[in-house]
Amino acid sequence: MNSIAVLGCGNIGTSILEGLLKSKESDQLQFFASRKNLDQLDPLREKGVHISTNNKEIAEKANYLIIAVKPYKVAEILNEIRDVINENHVVISVASEVSLAEIEEHLPKGTSIFRAMPNTASAIQESISCISAKHASKDQVQMVEYLFSGIGRTIVIDEELMGAATILGACGIAYAMRFIRAMIQGGIQLGFDAKTASKITTQTVKGAADLIIQNNSHPEMEIDKVTTPKGCTITGLNEMEHQGFSSALIQGIVKSFDKIDKTN
Ligand SMILES: NC(=O)c1ccc[n+]([C@@H]2O[C@H](COP(=O)([O-])OP(=O)(O)OC[C@H]3O[C@@H](n4cnc5c(N)ncnc54)[C@H](OP(=O)(O)O)[C@@H]3O)[C@@H](O)[C@H]2O)c1
Repeated sequence: MNSIAVLGCGNIGTSILEGLLKSKESDQLQFFASRKNLDQLDPLREKGVHISTNNKEIAEKANYLIIAVKPYKVAEILNEIRDVINENHVVISVASEVSLAEIEEHLPKGTSIFRAMPNTASAIQESISCISAKHASKDQVQMVEYLFSGIGRTIVIDEELMGAATILGACGIAYAMRFIRAMIQGGIQLGFDAKTASKITTQTVKGAADLIIQNNSHPEMEIDKVTTPKGCTITGLNEMEHQGFSSALIQGIVKSFDKIDKTN
């Protein structure tokens, strides 16, 4: 039986475990989680996750180890577990800005290592997880994709694109939230109460994303379907562009990217 441990089970670690616990195959997997403040893991414990403050002890019991601490703590955790890592282990870091080369330095030579960049929609199994690997067999890549498919969709990418994946996939949640918030505020100004404006906006945004996913279409194709000549949609859209809508979004994405260390 494969066993999965999240070392440093905070926001993203909990989202990943919550998602995996809901997956169809969860009864064929064993789950472990660590952090110092164990009280915070009570909800996971109640769902059958074995919890501990001892990273090394957990690393001995599980074979797929997901390192989910803040980037500056990754080396500390890897050094702590290094002695118990063997050829059966697969080490997966979700920390942004920590390269496979840096991870490798703290583990026995040849250890199968992965970087994965999920987002917080993991908790509802709607993440997109970008994955890259080193020293991994085809089966291990498949297994890691399978694990992350428990929390949404997966894509295997070159490690050099991991920075871009962090911005588009993980930070992207925040950009989308800000868009949704602005739309709700517009709806309130038009006369809806906040709750109703939120209900209409969120379902509309969900529907828009699903149209692209399910129709495999380009956003502009879907826009053409709702823009009557001289109509209210194109009038509003063009005003948004005059005010710099697309440009502001692209510039924000690039600014976020400039903020991270692109060598990782
Ligand atoms: N949040 C996101 O959307 C997201 C998305 C993709 C990737 N990431 C990456 O995921 C990582 C974690 O982010 P986060 O937002 O989940 O941070 P977080 O909520 O602070 O989670 C990190 C956890 O690590 C625990 N921890 C610290 N030292 C530890 C130790 N020595 N042993 C065991 N556990 C320890 C902390 O809990 P205690 O203090 O109780 O130990 C904390 O709960 C980051 O590297 C980030 O780049 C985050």
